[in-house]
Amino acid sequence: SIIQTSARRVWDSRGNPTVEVEVTLANGAVGRAIAPAGASRGTREAVDLRDGGTALKGMNVSAAVNNVTTRIAPLLRGMDASDQFGVDAALVDIDGTRLKSELGGNAMVATSLAVLHAAAAANSVPLWAYIAQISGRTPSLPLPEIQIFGGGAHAGRRVDVQDFMVMVPGAKDFDEVMETTAEIYHAAGKIMQAKGTLAGVADEGGWWPVFASNEEALETLVKAIEMAGETPGDRVIISLDIAASEFGSKGRYRLALEDRELDSDQMIALLGRWLDTYPIASIEDPLAEDDPEGVAAFTAAYGDRVQIIGDDYLVTNAGLVKQAAGAGACNAVLIKVNQAGTVSESIDCFRAAQSSNYGTIVSARSGETEDVSISHLAVGLGAGQLKVGSFTRGERMAKWNECLRIADALPANAFVAGAPLARTWWA
Ligand code: PGA
Ligand code: ZN
Repeated sequence: SIIQTSARRVWDSRGNPTVEVEVTLANGAVGRAIAPAGASRGTREAVDLRDGGTALKGMNVSAAVNNVTTRIAPLLRGMDASDQFGVDAALVDIDGTRLKSELGGNAMVATSLAVLHAAAAANSVPLWAYIAQISGRTPSLPLPEIQIFGGGAHAGRRVDVQDFMVMVPGAKDFDEVMETTAEIYHAAGKIMQAKGTLAGVADEGGWWPVFASNEEALETLVKAIEMAGETPGDRVIISLDIAASEFGSKGRYRLALEDRELDSDQMIALLGRWLDTYPIASIEDPLAEDDPEGVAAFTAAYGDRVQIIGDDYLVTNAGLVKQAAGAGACNAVLIKVNQAGTVSESIDCFRAAQSSNYGTIVSARSGETEDVSISHLAVGLGAGQLKVGSFTRGERMAKWNECLRIADALPANAFVAGAPLARTWWA
């Protein structure tokens, strides 16, 4: 049983404070986890508790850390760490708010994950195996979705689209995905350097681009894939996170780069032209979260040929996934533990996705740390894909490297991407 829960302030990949929680069990097992932080957040996701004021841009977490030691620790004392659903339900219960604003989503997610780690340690099994056990799933390695350029809120809005990514569904194993992606990433940097369109590295490790249009980003990505010796659309495909809530609201979409405003239909038509022109197999948040009709219309038009992922739109919420499935909006969901606030609610969302025949993509946030829990979560749940940002920066590479370690412990046929590139490859 849990004898101690402690917390400290640590720092994320953007140099902002965040919450680390450590849970100790009576048998000596210890679990530790750190809360990540998003920059382009959905309005319906769990909110972090931040101190406000002027110091540290108002982002200090002393109240959240304090909530762990004064309110969460006494609540969890004596509870069975193997009862993840019971622990999470108790946290949700004392928080009592819709968006977890009382205890703080940051305090809750770090605690929930630390309990998960402690229970796995107590059972002497790797975290991924423990997650598979409590969720009743068969572990498998996800197909990585890897960012080549950043944009939107992660790169000073230098381009409107937030993530330009690649996937390598044609790879034979996870290791081969890493190698192909490395070639593409470095090729993209070389092309941009030569053209003077490279301005460093964005929040998630992708190149920080100085492009004149979103299309220039897509053209450059196609060239980088070719320069890496690949035929775009063959072994390698393009994936976009439009993160449209960042520049669209009330049915109006403001493309800052091109200085024009589109309505919902025009936005759908623009994305449709991109789908016809470039080898794009996946699009996340194509329309804004307040434009459910737009998301449904986009899905009706293109859902049979591309994966359409809800992130800000579905915020790792089982109820919203079921609702979206009923409305024919999206066909896949991003799973971010800190959007839900607890491990159990993330598993609930995963199950809702499964029963709605939605694809599942476990995802990091733009503010991350050395915490690699999500690599284990993706494997343990047998999620279709894993999105952790780009192919540089330690907080990103830690997660890919952890997957390589897990791969060595899994049977060779455990790689999801072995399936052919067809509608089935993201299932
Ligand atoms: P965030 O964005 O972590 O900055 O909220 C990531 C995403 O939109 O997938
Ligand atoms: Zn997103």
